[in-house]
Amino acid sequence: MPLFDRTTRHAGDEIMSSSDAATRALSVTAVENDFVSGVYDKLAAVYDYTFGPGLHRGRIQAIQRMGIKPGDRLLEVGVGTGINVLLYPPESQVVGIDFSAPMLEKARERVARRGVRGVRLLEMDAADMKFPDGSFDIVYAPYVISVVPDPVRVAREMYRVCRPGGKVIILNHFRSQNVLGSRLERLISPLTLHIGFKSDLDLPGFLAQANLSPVSIEKVNFPRIWSLVTCIKEGPATPPSC
Ligand SMILES: C[S@@+](CC[C@H](N)C(=O)[O-])C[C@H]1O[C@@H](n2cnc3c(N)ncnc32)[C@H](O)[C@@H]1O
Repeated sequence: MPLFDRTTRHAGDEIMSSSDAATRALSVTAVENDFVSGVYDKLAAVYDYTFGPGLHRGRIQAIQRMGIKPGDRLLEVGVGTGINVLLYPPESQVVGIDFSAPMLEKARERVARRGVRGVRLLEMDAADMKFPDGSFDIVYAPYVISVVPDPVRVAREMYRVCRPGGKVIILNHFRSQNVLGSRLERLISPLTLHIGFKSDLDLPGFLAQANLSPVSIEKVNFPRIWSLVTCIKEGPATPPSC
């Protein structure tokens, strides 16, 4: 899979230089943690039906991309109702964080009901994680990065808590590179916020501002409008890009 080309043509037929991507707004919408957690507190009861099956192929592909080895320490950011917990190999050590207590409650129920071992669930803000640097082999954010108020800050936290040589994996919908699709996604973004996400998050801008250099970006799900972004964290002697 080719590396992302930061100088190709994108939405609006504008040439996006790296410097432009490094400073522009990533979405037309702004949101606060309280609003987001309020939305997910209400969604908890129906989440598995509304965001479950339609997004599941991407989740399975992400797990395959991780290449999890026995004993790997894995962090799932925005674990929600724990819809992914059965996908992890039983010998992995998984920590799931979320800031919505009702979503976490659903995750705890699932873990107990399905007898899942090796999964710890913690209430925590993804933008301010309480883990030391390099705590995990794999740090994974499925369908979260367009939900949080500050995606760049969350990505930096993910990078910080990943060990050098580990993987940072982001599964998400990003703004279309097609002119019409992009306009529509910007238009509806203030509305999609009310069901839990911004529809117009700018991938090139996000990568530039978070200083991420993915080793692959794959289109997943159907329609193929979601991206699976895989980064490898470089060693401490090298600049902070993955
Ligand atoms: C769309 S759900 C994704 C759930 C699950 N990862 C999946 O694959 O379906 C987004 C989750 O991120 C959580 N979330 C949003 N902002 C967060 C933050 N700043 N810190 C922790 N969790 C957050 C929400 O509460 C919600 O449970």
